[in-house]
Amino acid sequence: MSKFLEEALILEQREVAQQTYRLRLRAGRMAEAACAGQFFMLQVREGMDPLLRRPFSFHRIHPGEGNIEVLYRVVGRGTWWLSRCAPQTRLNLLGPLGNGFQLPRNAGSPVAIVAGGIGIAPLCELIHRLLASRGTLEARDIHLFYGARSAGELLPESDLEDLGISVYRGTDDGSLGYDGFVTDLFRKTAEEKHIKPSVLYACGPLAMQYHVARWALEHRVPSQLSLESLMACGIGACLGCALPASAPAGSTADHYVHVCKDGPIFGAESIQWHKIQTHGAPPPIFLYS
Ligand SMILES: Cc1cc2nc3c(=O)[nH]c(=O)nc-3n(C[C@H](O)[C@H](O)[C@H](O)COP(=O)(O)OP(=O)(O)OC[C@H]3O[C@@H](n4cnc5c(N)ncnc54)[C@H](O)[C@@H]3O)c2cc1C
Ligand code: FES
Repeated sequence: MSKFLEEALILEQREVAQQTYRLRLRAGRMAEAACAGQFFMLQVREGMDPLLRRPFSFHRIHPGEGNIEVLYRVVGRGTWWLSRCAPQTRLNLLGPLGNGFQLPRNAGSPVAIVAGGIGIAPLCELIHRLLASRGTLEARDIHLFYGARSAGELLPESDLEDLGISVYRGTDDGSLGYDGFVTDLFRKTAEEKHIKPSVLYACGPLAMQYHVARWALEHRVPSQLSLESLMACGIGACLGCALPASAPAGSTADHYVHVCKDGPIFGAESIQWHKIQTHGAPPPIFLYS
C-alpha cells in the first residue's frame, strides 16, 4: 500500500482522560487506505519547532465518513501544541505507514489483548475490526486487559464495556480495578479462567511488552506486539528506530529491525528482548506509559 501526504482538518478535540485527548480528523484518503495497527507521521505545527513529525496510531478509522481518530497523551512539546489546536486547524499527515495487525485465521477461538496506558490507542480499532469480522468469535471471547498508572489515565468505562467484550482493568497504584501491573492481571486471569488465546495482541511500554512476549513464548501463543521507538523519519531513511532483533537461522551477526518499516507490529520471537533490557537506561517510553 503506498503512502501519501494529506492535509487533514480537525473536526473535534476532546480531553478524555488525564492529559489524554481524542482528536477527530477529516482525512478521507487516509481513512480509506489505513488499517488497524498502522500509523502516520504528523506535522504538529508549521515552522521549525517542533521540526520533526511525530508518529501516531490510527485509533479509529471511519472510511465511510472520511474521518480518522487519534488518541494521544501529552508528553512533550509536539503533543502539547497538538492539544492547543482548535477545530478547523489543518494538520499535515504522512501515511499510512508500517504493517498492520493480522486478524486471527481461526475465527472461533478467543483472543487476548493487553493494553498499557496510551497503548490502548491502536487496540480500539483492532477490537472493532475483530468484532466486525468475527465469524463465530463471540464478543465475550475478546479479552481486553487494560492497565494504566492511575485511574485518571484510563479511558471511560463506557468506551469499551459497551462493546460487549470482556474487559479487565487495573492500575499500578490500585486506584481502580486490579492493584498492580497489567501483565500480572493478564497472567493471573488467564490462569484462573483458563484463557488460552489463539492470538495475543499488545501495545504499551517496552517493559510491559517484554513480559507479554515472555508469556507468549512460554505458552507458545502467537503474538502481535505493537512496539515503539523514537522515530525521526518514519519511512526507513534515518535508521533511528532500530531495535535488536533475532538473527536469521545460521547467522551470528548483530541484526536489527526498524520499527517504522519492519513494524510497528512484531512477533515476540523476532526481538532480542534481553538486549533492550541491558541498554542501561530504561526504554524512553517509560516516560509516558
Ligand atoms: C508507531 C508509533 C505510534 C504511536 N502512536 C501514538 C498514539 O497513538 N498516541 C500517543 O499518544 N503516542 C503515540 N506514539 C508516541 C508519540 O509519537 C510520542 O508521544 C510523541 O512523538 C511525543 O512527541 P512530543 O513532541 O510531545 O514529545 P517530545 O518533546 O518529542 O518528547 C518528550 C519526551 O518523550 C520521549 N519520547 C518522545 N517520543 C517517544 C517515543 N515514541 N517513545 C519513547 N519516548 C518518546 C522523548 O525522549 C522525550 O523525553 C507513537 C509512537 C510510535 C513510534
Ligand atoms: S524512523 Fe527513520 S528509519 Fe525508522
